[in-house]
Amino acid sequence: MTIKHHDVLVLGSGAAGLTLALELAQHLDVAVFSKGELDDGSTRWAQGGIAAVLTEDDTIEEHVSDTLAAGAGLCEASRVRHVVENSNSAIQWLIDQGVEFTKEASGQYHLTREGGHSKRRIIHTADATGHAVSSTLIRNALNESKLNIYDHHIAIDLITEADDDDTQIRCTGAYIQNSKTGEVTTFSARFVVLATGGASKVYLYTSNPDGSSGDGIAMAWRAGCRVANMEFNQFHPTCLFHANAKSFLITEALRGEGAHLKLPNGERFMARFDERCELAPRDIVARAIDHEMKRLGADCLYLDISHKSDEFIKSHFPTVYQRCLKFGIDITKEPIPVVPAAHYTCGGIMVNTSGSTDLRNLYAIGECSFTGLHGANRMASNSLLECIVYGRSAAADILQRAKSVRPGISHIDWDATRVTDSDEDVVISHNWDELRRFMWDYVGIVRTNKRLERASHRIKMLKREIAEYYGNYRVSGDIIELRNLATVAELIIRSAMERRESRGLHYTRDYPDLSPIARNTIMVPINFAGQDIIVTQPR
Ligand code: FAD
Ligand code: SIN
Repeated sequence: MTIKHHDVLVLGSGAAGLTLALELAQHLDVAVFSKGELDDGSTRWAQGGIAAVLTEDDTIEEHVSDTLAAGAGLCEASRVRHVVENSNSAIQWLIDQGVEFTKEASGQYHLTREGGHSKRRIIHTADATGHAVSSTLIRNALNESKLNIYDHHIAIDLITEADDDDTQIRCTGAYIQNSKTGEVTTFSARFVVLATGGASKVYLYTSNPDGSSGDGIAMAWRAGCRVANMEFNQFHPTCLFHANAKSFLITEALRGEGAHLKLPNGERFMARFDERCELAPRDIVARAIDHEMKRLGADCLYLDISHKSDEFIKSHFPTVYQRCLKFGIDITKEPIPVVPAAHYTCGGIMVNTSGSTDLRNLYAIGECSFTGLHGANRMASNSLLECIVYGRSAAADILQRAKSVRPGISHIDWDATRVTDSDEDVVISHNWDELRRFMWDYVGIVRTNKRLERASHRIKMLKREIAEYYGNYRVSGDIIELRNLATVAELIIRSAMERRESRGLHYTRDYPDLSPIARNTIMVPINFAGQDIIVTQPR
């Protein structure tokens, strides 16, 4: 029996997890976990930048109002205000950590524009902002001698127990597998923080890295947390379309700096869909591309920035330029073939302004959480901002509560006595492919009742097969992720079936209109056997 104790377990080493860990490292015994290398999450891949109110000609009111408009009536205004009011200090915190944002010749920070923003307010490091943020925070974390770093460790499930007065459940730790040795350790803690990122890997085509399998959302759901608005999966309009280019994003900042979307015959088309043309919010642009591709039977459409000077393109978009060149596309001379792909999970684990979940001492921050900021459609570059703001809010809350929360004691050890080594791993790869394909086909950019029913039928069968496999064989990273993906897929399908209107990222042909009342889809787990009820209610 192996048990390890820390004050705080931070599951995830992206922008959210590392912000919180760095804030707490001097005060508490903190352990940070990542499934693979420390930079294996989405943070490292972020391109466009971070939205914030940074100049005198921009205001908190305008950033709030743009976010509310992009969110299609479902953002929670007080949460939006909380994030935007803290945006300036969040950027200052990153600068203090050492992140080097791009400056103009005058020495001022260069601000770019993206869809939905009425002002230039995106601070960035060329087109590799995530790399700058991730490498700086990781460097600082590794230099912080008090932090305990566990890379290549995958959390399997949370450990919970009833509070002494039996009125609430509290989280006391997690079962975590060392991916290199296969050993499962019981980690107990006073606080557990889920910072596990999104779930876009549930779709066949995605801009996300492989680990975006919704682990935190699935673990929180199994442990008894409410999960909200899972039907709002954001599809980024422009990912590179090339047989050998796996998941490469073409940043929205290209459109912010004047790139045009074009049909295969070179015609621009966005004006037919929205007066803001290429800078309409993402849901509108992605749906317009999907519509035109289906209408024309085209494999892809095109994004063209070649009318800008070579020097401008190479200095603003060095990553995109080099990457496309690798595939034989010179973006200074020709348009880029693009398609939409799953990009961001707007729904997630319900939290309050401090990142606290329904379980005592369990927090959720970053993309795995549902804070109310994004509503039915996240505005570009608001995600990294949310990671930093909530990472800091949750850290402050933990610090303030730390004296009164006693060490968690996890009594039940991981039991592997009744399982054997698997001799049919093909079940995992087959189910993984099947799930991602039917989610793409039936629960994608355009939905219908029939498609959702088909998806619902398939996910029930898959879940049974996966549960059987999980119960019989020793756990591995692959089966842990597949089990979580199946849970998240079911939550997405059930939420989508519940929403009988089209709003933001959820578009269904059977209910094409907007309902007059905007409601969140809140799912409440009823027991641990996978049964649940869905309640829709205004927050
Ligand atoms: P992540 O950075 O995804 O990190 C998740 C962490 O959790 C990883 O360390 C992972 O190993 C760990 N983890 C997961 N499951 C487990 C488990 N079971 N056990 C242990 N550890 C686990 N947003 C913006 O605001 N601006 C942008 O310009 C931008 N560009 C983007 C470009 C791309 C290509 C992508 C994919 C996303 C982009 N986004 C952007 C979105 C943004 O990057 C993400 O929403 C954000 O980085 C998520 O950060 P996070 O800390 O929540 O999670
Ligand atoms: C991009 O650079 O287009 C991604 C920005 C985001 O997802 O916020």
